[in-house]
Amino acid sequence: MLPLVVSEIVRETPSIVSIRLAAPDGTALPPWQPGAHVDVQLITRHERQYSLCGDPADAHGYRIAVLREEFSRGGSHYIHSFLRVGSRVWVRPPRNLFTLSDAPAYHLLAAGIGITPILAMARHLAAEDADWRMTYLVRRREDVAFADDLAALGDRVTIHVGAEAGRLDLAELYAGLAPGTAVYACGPQRFVDALDDLARALPGGANLHVERFEPKPREFRPNEAFTVICARSDTTVEVPAERSMLGALHSAGVPVEGSCLRGICGSCEVTVLDGIPEHRDSLTGDDASMMMYPCVSRALSPTLVIDA
Ligand code: FES
Repeated sequence: MLPLVVSEIVRETPSIVSIRLAAPDGTALPPWQPGAHVDVQLITRHERQYSLCGDPADAHGYRIAVLREEFSRGGSHYIHSFLRVGSRVWVRPPRNLFTLSDAPAYHLLAAGIGITPILAMARHLAAEDADWRMTYLVRRREDVAFADDLAALGDRVTIHVGAEAGRLDLAELYAGLAPGTAVYACGPQRFVDALDDLARALPGGANLHVERFEPKPREFRPNEAFTVICARSDTTVEVPAERSMLGALHSAGVPVEGSCLRGICGSCEVTVLDGIPEHRDSLTGDDASMMMYPCVSRALSPTLVIDA
């Protein structure tokens, strides 16, 4: 992990602060593209994922934004209450599971703190002179984060204030999109679930890409034990029904990273060489994918062979 320090804290709204992280000696940081996130570990050992919302051209700093959560699992509360300029944090280099694909047109949708990856995408698309629009949903006008950055992006950005305009009709928004539009959305679970549920109403060739803060709510069959053969480590690991595959791999000393442990960050990704994975994460779009996330995913076959 990279040892970084907080170089700036800006209050964006009553409940959101943005934070710039930099190397203590000011050296350049690993590059990133819009949609990327970093895993941030605090001195309290809390580890959380935050989308990068700054400018990729700022090679010496990463900007993230953090919402004060009413039911914080620790990270949000610590950051809002105790993090100061000069505080030390540890950061894994950026990883991008929400990349912009080529499309004739883009519609960016952000709700609340979901503005973070969407803002970086909007800046990029504006610089590329792409055909793009953004809709940003907030409850109250004072909840608009990065107001100056959004104003600089001009009239392609629509801010929908729920307290003034009521609920946004997502079906109507979808119906107004041009065929082939790539829709990128980030926000609270209810918002991305609603977009997912309506995805069949998208015009021809349009597709939806979402980034989630919480795992997709889904039901799975009861856990069963299975065997994992780690080809590179030449190790065989038994995964009991009551343990995660990642936990069993760690106990056996197999080096696989892990951060969110909820199937949303992608840090534990491994390649399946043989066998049938049961994808329980919120990242895999294709059930036949041979990339798997063992913090939550398991096996449909008695044995998996993985590249680890
Ligand atoms: S640790 Fe985050 S997806 Fe597995």
